[in-house]
Amino acid sequence: VSRGLASSAVAGGPIKHITIIGGGLMGSGIAQVAAQTGHSVTLVDLNDVVLKKADGSIQKNLQRVAKKMFKDDKSATEQFIGKAMQNVKFTTDPLEPVKHTDLVVEAIVENLNLKHKLFTSLDKVAPEHTIFASNTSSLSIGDIASVTKRKDKFAGLHFFNPVPVMKLLEVIRTKETSDETYNKLMNWGAAVGKTAITCKDTPGFVVNRLLVPLMAEALRMMERGDASAKDIDIAMKLGAGHPMGPIELADYVGHDTTKSIIDGWHEKFPDNPLFAPVKSLAKLVEEGKLGVKTGEGFYKYK
Ligand code: CAA
Ligand code: NAD
Repeated sequence: VSRGLASSAVAGGPIKHITIIGGGLMGSGIAQVAAQTGHSVTLVDLNDVVLKKADGSIQKNLQRVAKKMFKDDKSATEQFIGKAMQNVKFTTDPLEPVKHTDLVVEAIVENLNLKHKLFTSLDKVAPEHTIFASNTSSLSIGDIASVTKRKDKFAGLHFFNPVPVMKLLEVIRTKETSDETYNKLMNWGAAVGKTAITCKDTPGFVVNRLLVPLMAEALRMMERGDASAKDIDIAMKLGAGHPMGPIELADYVGHDTTKSIIDGWHEKFPDNPLFAPVKSLAKLVEEGKLGVKTGEGFYKYK
């Protein structure tokens, strides 16, 4: 798949061309919001099958956004979608686009070794001004950046699922992230329509540091038999105003993701009871019941 605008990287200028590595759930969402706000985007994944799927899901989700913006105005809808899709190129080669890019947003699988391999190779070809960012949910940005020679131009850009809907962007600064990099990323966050907040490079940043222990505690509550999954979810929706209950949310995020976040933190901080492994989560992962994406988790979706 290949279509779209030529890149337009400019040293010192605002962020115009973005390369997103990883075209899964998050990468395709980030590509969509960047494209629909007029940025030139290249989305990279390992094979064309994933990219084709990303292309389809971006188009489908642009429809949903357009419906909200333009209601039944068919020509405005078509123009919006057409323009956004023209801004996206799809490729399996990460090196070529990175040679001409202002910003790399990495959204590959949550694995430090793979992220290191990727950034080591990109660091060699990216222009000096290019900023690198990771969308990691739970790894340390400083640890990811450690393999590069541009630690001043490295930060976290943490989006939320579903990216086109969730209005927040966490901008994570390490001790080495420069003011210039930080300011550019805060401005870019606003340019893609998000409200950006700042956080230090701490486990889970703001949202996941609060949300993951909440989901884990809800599961422990269910395991103890204090209340059923359904009642815990109803309670947090109607009693605390959450859009989804914590167990529904765990199904939505995916149990492999949540388990790997908790396990990673537990390994690094074994004494923190908030990060203690959760039995029911491990059982579901073992059974391949990963939540909404596999059709079954704590609830069934088929
Ligand atoms: N793209 C575009 N639009 C979308 C969309 C997508 N992927 N998904 C949903 N929408 C739109 C729908 O079209 C719908 O629009 P209208 O209001 O115009 O009809 C609207 O969003 C609401 O969607 P639904 O009616 O399908 O369902 P809902 O009202 O239950 O909302 C939800 C769905 C937005 C996901 C809501 O339930 C919610 O906010 N849930 C909590 C999500 C959350 O907490 N996310 C963070 C997870 S943690 C994370 O991401 C970080 C990490 O590192 C793991
Ligand atoms: P995903 O599995 O849907 O997508 C990851 C994609 O990366 C896959 O399509 C895979 O083929 C691709 N990939 C793997 N290695 C690659 C490489 N070397 N080069 C190019 N592509 C490669 O995962 P996701 O849910 O989109 O998560 C991506 C990142 O975002 C992770 O770091 C995750 O922690 C983080 N995150 C996830 C969520 C969430 O709710 N799922 C929310 C915020 C942040």
